[in-house]
Amino acid sequence: MNMLIRGGQVIDPGRFNGSADVLIVDGKISAIDKKLQVKDENLRVVDAKDYIVCPGFVDLHVHFREPGFEYKETIASGVASAVAGGFTAVCCMPNTKPVNDCQAVTDLILKQAERAHKARVYPIGAITKGSEGKELAEIGELYESGCVAISDDGRPVMNGFIMRRAMEYAKTFNLPVVDHCEDLHLTNGGSMHEGLVSTEMGIPGIPAAAEDVMVARNVALAEMTGARLHLAHVSTVGSVRSIREAKARGLPVTAEVCPHHFTLTDEAVRAFNTNAKMNPPLRTNTDITAVREGLQDGTIDAIATDHAPHAVQEKELQFDEAPFGIVGLETALPLTLRLVEEGVLSLEDAIAKLTKGPAQAFNLTDGTLSVGANADLVLIDPQQEWTIDPTKFHSKGRNTPFAGWQVKGKVMLTIVSGEIVFEDTASSG
Ligand code: DOR
Repeated sequence: MNMLIRGGQVIDPGRFNGSADVLIVDGKISAIDKKLQVKDENLRVVDAKDYIVCPGFVDLHVHFREPGFEYKETIASGVASAVAGGFTAVCCMPNTKPVNDCQAVTDLILKQAERAHKARVYPIGAITKGSEGKELAEIGELYESGCVAISDDGRPVMNGFIMRRAMEYAKTFNLPVVDHCEDLHLTNGGSMHEGLVSTEMGIPGIPAAAEDVMVARNVALAEMTGARLHLAHVSTVGSVRSIREAKARGLPVTAEVCPHHFTLTDEAVRAFNTNAKMNPPLRTNTDITAVREGLQDGTIDAIATDHAPHAVQEKELQFDEAPFGIVGLETALPLTLRLVEEGVLSLEDAIAKLTKGPAQAFNLTDGTLSVGANADLVLIDPQQEWTIDPTKFHSKGRNTPFAGWQVKGKVMLTIVSGEIVFEDTASSG
């Protein structure tokens, strides 16, 4: 069925911003104009007055736990969570069991995503076999089977020579190499940011330098090989500085930041809250300022969630024993809109960091409302206030430090290929 989305504030970053109608025909964007007259008896008309209408969000960084850890998240529950959060395309990290280091695993992910029939799922293949950091995975095979990038996320490639070779191979396919930048020797078993709070709490810390040195190494390798480098979940002043400098020199480097890293500091860990434990850890106010400046000046291209569901019983362990990670797909929009309220980003720029920015970083065709593009959109009520309640998440994960937060900005409708895949029935009655 074709669809006319009437009278919303249409924001297609860099291309259109104003009140308009959007016409969807055969699952594609057919026209955007101030007032569209359409003769079609079967046309479904959606009233978008008071709503923002923008491209569906693109998340470069999610952990769906299938295969291997379906009790934490399946691809079906992951994409349900994605579309509830306004994401119509997600890139899933390979740290499943088995690791996505070959075509069989990529095929399975793509098949399950097709079955779930909600958000688009783009697999990210592993850099090394089993993400063990020893031997390169079959990067060409991963590319051929549909992986959009390679990464050993969560288990960073410590050996610089292997990273060099990975970049050389990836370059031949123009595949971005995504790195979780962490020098594990510097981390040395730490489980939160190393600083005043970790010292007072007596918890071994992860110094900012553990991230900074690996960003610097990877930038040097990107320069040497000419490969595209994407820096995952950037959290420190030093990382932002290195990326800014690399971009100024014209290197093919892109970067993402997670909402928790521009919203919370290590103070959130004070009550030994394992739902504030993630890697990289929550840092300091100085780091928050730096990543926000990075978003403002284009050093950071994208907002990504690092959606990392874990079971409740896993997070109920002692702080140092609990796994790293929080869910993020269903809270990213209101946390991003806080940046608009606080004057850090314009509304259009904030939406760009969730759409065009990530899509361009990975060369995806998503993140735009241009005529002929897939009709993947989200309708947002920017004024609606609501309370974050993890029991209502579509994700299986409940692990968020934002439980109970009063936030503003709600996803009302998510559309993929012209089909409604999420509707906020609770708000619309
Ligand atoms: O917090 C994190 N959780 N960081 C990672 O690098 C991995 C992720 C996970 O898979 O749970």
